[in-house]
Amino acid sequence: MTAIATPIVLPSAGRYRSDPACTTVAVKATHLVGLGAVTATCALRDADVTVGETNTAPTVHAVSDAGSVASGTSTREGDIRAPTFLDTAATPAIPVEIRAVTRSTGKWTGGAPITAHGVPPPVAGTLAHVAQRGADLTLKGGARIDRDAHGITAAKGKAWLAAGSPSPSPLREPTTDPTPGRTRRRRHRQAGRSRHPITSKPSNDETIRSADMIDLTDTISPALSKLDDAGRATLFTDARTANTFAATPVSDAELTAIWDLAKWAPTSANTQPLRILYVHPGHARERLVTHMNDGNKAKTASAPAVAVLAVDTRFHDYIPTLLPFRPELKDVFDADEEMRTGAGLFNATLQAGYFILAIRAHGLAAGPMAGFDATGIDAAFFPDGRWRSILVVNIGHPGPNPWFARLPRLDHEDTIRWA
Ligand SMILES: Cc1cc2nc3c(=O)[nH]c(=O)nc-3n(C[C@H](O)[C@H](O)[C@H](O)COP(=O)(O)O)c2cc1C
Repeated sequence: MTAIATPIVLPSAGRYRSDPACTTVAVKATHLVGLGAVTATCALRDADVTVGETNTAPTVHAVSDAGSVASGTSTREGDIRAPTFLDTAATPAIPVEIRAVTRSTGKWTGGAPITAHGVPPPVAGTLAHVAQRGADLTLKGGARIDRDAHGITAAKGKAWLAAGSPSPSPLREPTTDPTPGRTRRRRHRQAGRSRHPITSKPSNDETIRSADMIDLTDTISPALSKLDDAGRATLFTDARTANTFAATPVSDAELTAIWDLAKWAPTSANTQPLRILYVHPGHARERLVTHMNDGNKAKTASAPAVAVLAVDTRFHDYIPTLLPFRPELKDVFDADEEMRTGAGLFNATLQAGYFILAIRAHGLAAGPMAGFDATGIDAAFFPDGRWRSILVVNIGHPGPNPWFARLPRLDHEDTIRWA
């Protein structure tokens, strides 16, 4: 099912002016490796919106104060202001002009020259939403910003997308979130019809405030289906960690299907660093058991299937295939061992969780174990050093008395905070 975007209704003709004193431009950049998002603010010096008398889209003129970027970290802010990034000493203002020209499916799309770092390459800007309530005008717009086009050379590959229109500010943080530019909402107060001079109004709760970020891709909304109670029980509420296993075999086809399900769950920059070694019963299994902690030996020996989950320390070699629009990210990871190791372990661990859920989704029980000698397993099974073990998982149908007593879980009062 799809939802069709509502066509934009033109506001009254005139000029609308933002009040810089109560306006903040919000910028959000997503880390390349998914280890967190960076948010920052940037002050708006001036902005006005002109709506013509005829059926034309509004034009937006805005100037952001590049030097005002605030991200809560003085080192990062210094980097952003430096000559290799925004060079705010030489180019303290980021002017933006959006002249929306084409109107289709409820959006106006047009050129939006955004001058950052003193370079004004044309950027495709969009006004996705224009709404008027009384004298207030609310706009949503966005643009995809390319740091390279703006001549930003610092931290190459680390700040691909900075968000916000009409005045985005690239951040010196790893970003590869491949979503189009995000937008913010800004309220403009009508300053007068086009014949009258613009007057800036004092702030109040209806005037411009800091940004909301929305995703421009949301004009078509796919409907998602919901797991029923039985599905949730299979994956979560009834699912248990198995400690004994029935003799019923698990086929290689089932084991392959587990990965073919787990692989669809997300990883940052689509890196997918998890690797799996299935260890069949026999000599290989006996060798594996010798590296398990004593309490894990019997179940690892008797499970119909056992997976050694590992991180591929050269996962980035696949980036040109897995992230084809950003192949040079491979070199970024190549040059930064700390980032590479952190991203590999973080995403492989995420995938290990998905893997356990995929086992359950296939009607099997999982028995994950961290109790093993990783150095011994790696030497025995991954002698070239490229894969490194992170978890061993027994897989099969539960045997007699398979579960330990269910342990308590933290309640939402102990785990959730609201901001
Ligand atoms: C990362 C991880 C490591 C674990 N390591 C061991 C282990 O070495 N030995 C073991 O007997 N159980 C191990 N477990 C099993 C947990 O103790 C078990 O999943 C948890 O208590 C929840 O049990 P339940 O699913 O039956 O509620 C591990 C589980 C996870 C997720």
